[in-house]
Amino acid sequence: MTKKTTILAGNSNDIAKLTLKSAALFWFFITVVGQWIFAYYTVLFYGGSAIRGDIEAINKNLIHGIISGDHIGNFMVITHLILAAIITFGGPLQIILGTILMDADRFKPASNIRGATALVHRLNGRIYMMTAFLISIGGLYMIWTRGTIGGLAQHIAISLNGVLIIVFAAIALGYAIKGNITKHKRWALRLFLVVSGVWFFRVGLMLWMSIHQGPYGYDPITFTGPFLYILAFAQYLFPLLVLEVYFRVKDRENARASFAMAITITVLTIAMGVGIYGAFTGMWLPKM
Ligand code: HEM
Repeated sequence: MTKKTTILAGNSNDIAKLTLKSAALFWFFITVVGQWIFAYYTVLFYGGSAIRGDIEAINKNLIHGIISGDHIGNFMVITHLILAAIITFGGPLQIILGTILMDADRFKPASNIRGATALVHRLNGRIYMMTAFLISIGGLYMIWTRGTIGGLAQHIAISLNGVLIIVFAAIALGYAIKGNITKHKRWALRLFLVVSGVWFFRVGLMLWMSIHQGPYGYDPITFTGPFLYILAFAQYLFPLLVLEVYFRVKDRENARASFAMAITITVLTIAMGVGIYGAFTGMWLPKM
């Protein structure tokens, strides 16, 4: 290779890296907006109804909700909703703090920014991990004692989601304690995606409904049908698959693969944006 072609290859690699980073940032930005809207809805609707003492409104929105006499079940539902708001707000925040922490040394005075960010990251991380464990255990309890909408396939899918949250949280925490930041970062991202599974479900469903202009491939009354069975697993397995491909492409540093990945992420993000808009206008806004 001549010196000129080596420089050109180097330049296109740098541009490809930057393009991939920009696509990932675009995805993350849209995700933060979408998740914080979901968190806001949870606080406003459930919190607002609870403050007004409007149990009927809460029950109308849930399959079982608050059942008179079922103290443990009711406790699980109430804590689930509180933890849902905490984790949906805290997840994106944790990644933002982690990213600032990685780049903190570039700012002046670095030590102040690093120290403060590290403290909040550690505190928020503990809350996030604890919330991840508790919300999954509570969710598993609700599914297998009270049941919920949908069929057995969906119950198994969401249960597997809960188990993966617990396992990934333990692994991410383990690497943080050992100080293996590279592995901690990757497992924290995997954890973030499985925790986001229920959010991806709502966004995916509303994207599908926007495309088909209504329910398609499932029965909207029983909430069962092939599309929902696939979505119940895809809500966390598909994002995990895309993340693994992203990691491989990032590690290989191949310009073509990076451009292709950047285009894929951008297209998926636009589709996700349509789903978020659908969920916001169709599911959350009418109740806020
Ligand atoms: C980790 C993130 C999770 C979040 C943010 C979350 C959020 C929510 C929210 C907001 C609701 C109320 C329905 C709505 O307004 O859309 C809900 C209901 C429910 N969630 Fe979760 N959830 C999570 C994880 C799980 C897991 C892992 C399970 C099961 C293993 C689960 C099981 C349930 C069940 C059964 C209900 C329905 C309760 C009823 O209808 O009485 N959730 N969740």
